[in-house]
Amino acid sequence: MSAVTLQPVTRGNWQGCAALQVSAEQRRLFPFSVLEWIAESRFEPSFELWAIEVDAIPVGFAVLGEDEETAEHWVIALMIDARFQRLGYGRAAMQLLIAKLAARPGCRRVLLGHRPNNAAAAALYTALGFVEIDRDDHEIVRALALAEAT
Ligand SMILES: CC(C)(COP(=O)(O)OP(=O)(O)OC[C@H]1O[C@@H](n2cnc3c(N)ncnc32)[C@H](O)[C@@H]1OP(=O)(O)O)[C@@H](O)C(=O)NCCC(=O)NCCS
Repeated sequence: MSAVTLQPVTRGNWQGCAALQVSAEQRRLFPFSVLEWIAESRFEPSFELWAIEVDAIPVGFAVLGEDEETAEHWVIALMIDARFQRLGYGRAAMQLLIAKLAARPGCRRVLLGHRPNNAAAAALYTALGFVEIDRDDHEIVRALALAEAT
């Protein structure tokens, strides 16, 4: 597999990111466009946008964020374009995102949420060690504990 990297979203690559889409079926489970995340980041100062690239081609998109009140670190969004799914890129990108957060002082765990019927997300996050900590009709929240910094 070619190397997956996380690249900052810039003037040079944002349009390539905005063209990424999940499948029509997945849109019911993940009803957000990359453009919406880019727009929301304008008003959410903690949002960090990452292009997921393979061989310098954007294949996916991710958003990290920190809750102002709790100081918890969240993977706000992760998507791989429908054309590039099931190639291991989602898992590799998630591992890079976790490593990025783990390197931050004071970051003890990573939180994320997904729709209860999003089987792909549930399988991916469970395999990476995330455990369910909360759920309602719309969302399952999962956490991954990080090793204590020495
Ligand atoms: C979830 C998502 C990011 C996975 O990306 P991906 O690159 O296809 O995933 P990978 O190829 O790295 O697969 C990793 C694991 O995810 C799970 N998985 C991925 N797609 C799956 C599917 N369609 N059905 C069931 N499990 C799936 C599997 O456990 C897989 O491991 P395996 O290949 O050993 O079986 C992708 O399906 C996606 O973008 N979905 C729409 C957006 C979304 O739902 N994001 C998550 C909620 S925030």
